Amino acid sequence: MRTKVVIIGGGPSGLLLSRLLSLDGIDNVVLEKQTKSHVIGRIRAGVLESGTTNMLHKAGVSCRLDTEGFIHDGIQLSFKNHGFRINLKKLTDKHVTVYGQTEVTKDLYEIIEKQNNNIINSADNVLPQDLDKKNPFVTFKKDGIENKIKCDFVAGCDGYHGISRKTIPKNLIQIYERVYPFGWLGVLSETPPVSDELIYANHGNGFALASMRNNNLSRYYIQTPLSDKIDNWTDKKFWEELKKRLPTQAADTIITGKSIEKSIAPLRSFVCEPMSWGKLFLVGDAAHIVPPTGAKGLNLAVSDVYYLHNGFKKHYLLNNKNDLKLYSQKALSRVWKAIRFSWWMTTTFHRFPNQTNFDQCIQDSEIEYLQNSVASQTVLAENYVGLPF
Ligand code: PHB
Repeated sequence: MRTKVVIIGGGPSGLLLSRLLSLDGIDNVVLEKQTKSHVIGRIRAGVLESGTTNMLHKAGVSCRLDTEGFIHDGIQLSFKNHGFRINLKKLTDKHVTVYGQTEVTKDLYEIIEKQNNNIINSADNVLPQDLDKKNPFVTFKKDGIENKIKCDFVAGCDGYHGISRKTIPKNLIQIYERVYPFGWLGVLSETPPVSDELIYANHGNGFALASMRNNNLSRYYIQTPLSDKIDNWTDKKFWEELKKRLPTQAADTIITGKSIEKSIAPLRSFVCEPMSWGKLFLVGDAAHIVPPTGAKGLNLAVSDVYYLHNGFKKHYLLNNKNDLKLYSQKALSRVWKAIRFSWWMTTTFHRFPNQTNFDQCIQDSEIEYLQNSVASQTVLAENYVGLPF
């Protein structure tokens, strides 16, 4: 079997790249190790920048997004239980759209299955080979049978734990990393969201976030020590702690209920440079991780897809072989800005275990500055709605 681009990983970035390539008539195959139901069962954040929604429009998968997505013109910040608003629309003339990553993945699956049917699920032992040679190929096992696909290029869209990044010789990459000394305990509950807009709260007990999936599905998070176990957090204890950290008005009106999902996730920033090697291009979490505080993970994967898709288009359709060589450089320039913003949001809104009184005063003044300065608010807003591609 032969194709032009093998895409390893059938999450949102792999599927989006596949769809955009197919629309341009560029042959590609997606290899996904999980089943379809596993992939679309992952519950992930869904705060979409306008650059991301534009890409979904371009891919022809915006029908549900346009009708079911929630336009948010602002976000709420909270400091010591007092809320204030960042007016994204007024400050940037842009908004964000709340639409779950799970839904984005479902929409992409549906159109690709209908029109191209080039996704191979349950592909085991996926191994890209000869990536630094003229004729790369990918081997994998499906239903116990060994398969080989020859290709021109491989796109590694297989996440942080995937095989793609690991095939690059260690001496050729530089890793940049920060691991944060806390996690997020997340709860999904079938209750109406406490606020029309997301609330990011800085509180003496630690960070809290009120988010949503739809009118009757809320997503809440609180910062917890890394040593905390999920079993220690009954629903009752979670809601009590969340209420302590949210703005008073939200805490007084929140509707609580049974959790339908509860998990603790660690937070880290991670970048692998460069994002390409030979015929391999890394996309999204395979190359970089952001803490969820700025809601940048999916958006960053989509801007990678933007640069890579353009590179492939120029290579195959315009006979410009140079653009692909610039992929890593172009993508990384935007990646680092989102890494910086996510780090800043995380640092500004969380309690650190060894926070000194000096650190505390700096953090307090950062938020007070934000509360009172349009310039400071504009910096946050411009990054939150997404820097241009
Ligand atoms: C979420 O809804 O899961 C969510 C929203 C915003 C974030 C992180 C997570 O910054």
